[in-house]
Amino acid sequence: MKGDAIRPAWVHLVSAFHAMEPTDSLISISRECGGGAITEDVQHFISDRCITKTITDGKGHTPYIKSFLKKVILEVESAADVVIDELYEQLSFYMTSLKGDDLAKGTSRVIREISFLYPTDNIEDQVSQSPRKVVVPLNCSLNMLEGDTGCSIWPSSLFLSEFILSCPELFSMKSCFEQLGSGVGLVGICLAHVKPSKVVLSDGDLSTLANLKLNLELNHVNTKFGSSESILEDPCKVKCLHLLWESAVESDLQDLMPDIVLGADVIYDPQCIPHLVNVIATLLTTKKSNSLHKEVPIALDDQSNSDSSSGYEEFVLASTTQPVAYIASVVRNINTYNYFHKVALEANLKVVDITENIKIFNFLPYMLSYQRSSVRLLGIYQAFH
Ligand SMILES: C[S@@+](CC[C@H](N)C(=O)[O-])C[C@H]1O[C@@H](n2cnc3c(N)ncnc32)[C@H](O)[C@@H]1O
Repeated sequence: MKGDAIRPAWVHLVSAFHAMEPTDSLISISRECGGGAITEDVQHFISDRCITKTITDGKGHTPYIKSFLKKVILEVESAADVVIDELYEQLSFYMTSLKGDDLAKGTSRVIREISFLYPTDNIEDQVSQSPRKVVVPLNCSLNMLEGDTGCSIWPSSLFLSEFILSCPELFSMKSCFEQLGSGVGLVGICLAHVKPSKVVLSDGDLSTLANLKLNLELNHVNTKFGSSESILEDPCKVKCLHLLWESAVESDLQDLMPDIVLGADVIYDPQCIPHLVNVIATLLTTKKSNSLHKEVPIALDDQSNSDSSSGYEEFVLASTTQPVAYIASVVRNINTYNYFHKVALEANLKVVDITENIKIFNFLPYMLSYQRSSVRLLGIYQAFH
């Protein structure tokens, strides 16, 4: 089992469990671990590395673990295979647990651990018990549709995080401002790993902002940085702002002077779009930074070199001399998306879809619920005449 535990599927299983991926996804990965069936070895792995470890650490969300255990047992029994005693014991522990049903008590916040697994061809890394990864614990909500939008993890923030970790050179030593509804703070925490000079995070919702600060603290404790390199250990370098786009004050925005503006999943409410665009336009107009004079080309996808008509090359050029924004978005309503483009154009902003031009690593291979292809990445800059 020790040998098996280092195979990718097993790492994916434990990562998916801690990220609280849908339990059906966990079952699929469990089958993959056992070559098509949830063998006794796989069950022992689930029992020891997922469940027992969670109990020992005093973590875990009871309804989620119960649901997973029930599905594993059902799956194994349906295949007329042997269920190991430990799984029955663990299910009975959770069925009678005094922790009860957190959801029934109205507690819908959970800690999800998002592990970014570094792809590696290096055999040394593959056989290492601790492959290189960035683990981000996040306090977040299970009720994303009940007024808790800012406390859920949205696909665009996963995409933007993968982009940041794929192209750290674009962000290191830059002043970055995720002004556009930072939510749980995943993007900001990933930024902290690529050594920017400053990070400012903001949200218009006060309870989201309180949760964001909690997540920064969580990561301050749990994330390993080189001691003098941790920007999260330097409170001067990470700031949280309450910023409602509708009431943003131009002079306050001008003081921020970011090199890079980031936003994930913020294009969804047509009423907010003019205010959102106004904030982006103000931030992109104000910076004349020294750090921007150094040219840092964005990693090009091999097939994208010839496509100069997309405006990508102009965007790359602009990024060397002026601030730019990266906005990741899932297109849920094409009219809203087009409206954003229209308002941005009127604000003299150039918006380029750079999704196909960038090189992005798959850091979340275990996250079957995340559809990377559903996310578009927009590069935005101010068109000066
Ligand atoms: C769909 S969530 C995305 C959160 C985060 N960026 C992510 O991708 O996980 C939208 C975020 O924008 C914030 N937001 C919505 N409207 C806003 C406004 N008018 N001003 C400031 N923030 C706003 C919400 O509070 C929420 O955190």
